[in-house]
Amino acid sequence: MHARPRFLLAIDSGTTSTRAIVFDALGQVVAAAQREIQQYFPHDGWVEQDGDEIWASTIDVCREAIATAGIDAEDVLAIGITNQRETTLLWDAGTGRLLHRAIVWQDRRTADDCTRLKSEGHEAAVIDKTGLLLDPYFSATKLHWLLENVPGARQRAKEGGLRFGTIDTFLLWRLTGGKVHRTDATNASRTLLFNIHTQQWDPDLLALLDIPASLLPEVLDCAAEFGVSEPGLLGAAIPITGMAGDQQAAMIGQACFHPGMAKSTYGTGCFVMMNTGTSPVRSRNRLITTVGYRLDGRTTYALEGSIFVAGAAIQWLRDGLKLIHHAGETEALAGQAGETCGVYLVPAFTGLGAPYWDPKARGAIFGLTRETGIAEIVAAGLQSACFQTRDLLEAMNADGTSPITTLRIDGGMVNNNWMAQALANVLGVTVERPRITETTALGAAYLAGLKQGLFRSLDDIAVLWRCERAFAPQMDPERQAQLYRGWLDAVNRVRNQT
Ligand code: G3P
Repeated sequence: MHARPRFLLAIDSGTTSTRAIVFDALGQVVAAAQREIQQYFPHDGWVEQDGDEIWASTIDVCREAIATAGIDAEDVLAIGITNQRETTLLWDAGTGRLLHRAIVWQDRRTADDCTRLKSEGHEAAVIDKTGLLLDPYFSATKLHWLLENVPGARQRAKEGGLRFGTIDTFLLWRLTGGKVHRTDATNASRTLLFNIHTQQWDPDLLALLDIPASLLPEVLDCAAEFGVSEPGLLGAAIPITGMAGDQQAAMIGQACFHPGMAKSTYGTGCFVMMNTGTSPVRSRNRLITTVGYRLDGRTTYALEGSIFVAGAAIQWLRDGLKLIHHAGETEALAGQAGETCGVYLVPAFTGLGAPYWDPKARGAIFGLTRETGIAEIVAAGLQSACFQTRDLLEAMNADGTSPITTLRIDGGMVNNNWMAQALANVLGVTVERPRITETTALGAAYLAGLKQGLFRSLDDIAVLWRCERAFAPQMDPERQAQLYRGWLDAVNRVRNQT
């Protein structure tokens, strides 16, 4: 009798879409399914999503991916979950009912709370413990807002009747039929409540932010026995053995397993992450120190630069300005405009992330002339992701990390060859695009497979990484410097307006 084939199912619950991908034991994509997620913008700077929609879409895409792969649910060895990080949900422990829409990581409603905490002198201690900054980006002030603003929530929380979770925790809770309340160390490290040195929820931070400990999930390694899915949901009881925030999962999918290796992912936002090994590197330039992954109780740290708007700028050109019909059109349009047309788009729609951390900045387009058309604005939109990446690499260099010589890139935007080349040009660094650009889902699948013994070690995974195309810088350094100066000037003007 033949052994059953062994597949891994990755759930990638992103900001704009929910995806499920079936991988084989060599990390090749067998089948994929995707649903877009509705975004709600109830006020300036507020971003919400419907947790029930995220859940329903997750089940839909999992079923579809398994069916498209032509396999049975029993053939799935394990599930790995990866997710948009920081996005905050609160639900009733008894009924599972959500108390409010999810407050998305981009949401700025707690900017004033963060300013107050900073003015009271709390930021240094927060950085020491969490590696993060006092910014509305992270979960804790969002959770505090929910407790204060949803009628009865504070009281129910005090009685132990509520559960908090980022998207990973929420999906795990629902997949296990409300039996398991757990997260992994990478997602915990984004809440502003987790001490990255002790790897525990921090009592001082819980007190500072007035968060009852009973709300919090148990924190496990990224490859661990998180739970087992309810058989009725996907057609079998499938172990859930991998979990990581999407940027950390991408770092694993890109096999950045040695100190100094870095990846940059262009999804809704853009996140550059450098592996710094087993000791956390504290940034002096307002980057974040975070958990890269935790395996067998051993933490590997990363330095991260977070940009809030990358692919979302192209989505805005499509849905907001209606300049294009499909993102795929941007490559040819940008090619017509060229890289030096002098138009700069600063996509500070929800403020600016690293290294500026300016929640009140707002977007602008500069350098418009009578010659400016759709092509120039599209090129400026793509270039804004490149310039923001350069901002992060400059900050990493200033932090004294060894200079990045090659950067592994992934995410929807990097299928655009013009953008990948413009990125290499503005960074002055070779960028490498892997054969499988679904690195986020792949990372989650690898973690799940690692726990199940499909891979023995990270070395087994590293050998599976393949470069599809490398883009070497082709721009004269003087021109590159001039172009980047124009960007810095544009950012400065956005910041001075606030
Ligand atoms: O920190 C937010 C990040 O995890 C969101 O990633 O890919 O949905 O833009 P993405």
